Amino acid sequence: MKESIEKITAEIKSLQCKTDKEVEEARVRLLGKKGEITKLFDDFRTIAPELKREFGQKLNVLKNEAMAKIAELKEAVSASSAGAASTGNDVSMPGELHQLGSRHPVSIAREEIVGIFRKFGYDVAEGPEIEDDYHVFEALNFPPNHPARDMQDTFFVSNGHLNPLLLRTHTSSVQVRTMEKVQPPIRVVCPGRVFRNEAISARAHCIFHQVEGLYIDENVTFADLKQAILLFAREMFGADTQIRMRPSYFPFTEPSAEVDVSCNICHGKGCNICKGTGWLEILGCGMVDPNVLEASGIDSKKYSGFAFGMGVERIAMLKWQVNDLRHYFENDMRFLGEFSTYPGV
Ligand code: DAH
Repeated sequence: MKESIEKITAEIKSLQCKTDKEVEEARVRLLGKKGEITKLFDDFRTIAPELKREFGQKLNVLKNEAMAKIAELKEAVSASSAGAASTGNDVSMPGELHQLGSRHPVSIAREEIVGIFRKFGYDVAEGPEIEDDYHVFEALNFPPNHPARDMQDTFFVSNGHLNPLLLRTHTSSVQVRTMEKVQPPIRVVCPGRVFRNEAISARAHCIFHQVEGLYIDENVTFADLKQAILLFAREMFGADTQIRMRPSYFPFTEPSAEVDVSCNICHGKGCNICKGTGWLEILGCGMVDPNVLEASGIDSKKYSGFAFGMGVERIAMLKWQVNDLRHYFENDMRFLGEFSTYPGV
């Protein structure tokens, strides 16, 4: 009897249960009608009278320990299942994998362009997408009948008064807003979304993005403009990139130029991306017209400056050889997924 009591005591101490069912099974095994402890009480009747006192006490202690342990296990099991039910989670389940999105290539290109100019000491400025005629055209020296003001190019929001509201057709409007607020020296880039009433095709869209740049200080020359653009082009397209400038016209700059970079695919030999010319157009630029400085309250006798503007989608197309602008707007996961591992900027 002594050994049986010791064995069952040890068993009770190490008893563990995970479910209600296991607790009930343990109770029946120990304390049920045919349970081990019940059986010892039956055996107790037949032992010698002088041993009854000692084993009577021991059996009672054993029975109490068994009952206390069963109660304790019952409580532990129901507490843990209530916990699981209250969070609705089975913490032992393997985790669910969520598919992470990635940055859009237009955002990557914009951040890269802005990041390069930030390194050169430029600030970042933003302006409203719904603008007025004054900031998009008039303050930028557009003559009253300039074709860019035409209904065919511009989405008008309100019509019929002197300074109608419209969706900005370029981010050059942010130049004006910046010059209105701060006096030179000014060094800013202005990224943003622009809108034009264009038919959608592989090369044109009615919504796209630009980054405008503006540098105004004393004695700024065309040589400074050329150097800024060359450094930018080399950061963006590679250290061996060449640039060339072609004379052009914009109402807000004089002189004006369009800038080409040497084709980063064929390295100037001529391929179908550069249409055999070896050059790719990337931006427009020029020396800010004195009329534009004066319109925003900057003394054109003291200060001069340059400006430039580029299309973000265009830069992104050239950098990654994307041949259809519409890819950037259709959100085809096969296309966007190509950029999911692009390193951060
Ligand atoms: N605003 C022009 C456009 O949308 C781009 C541009 C050209 C901006 C020359 C400039 C510039 O600042 O100097 O086509």
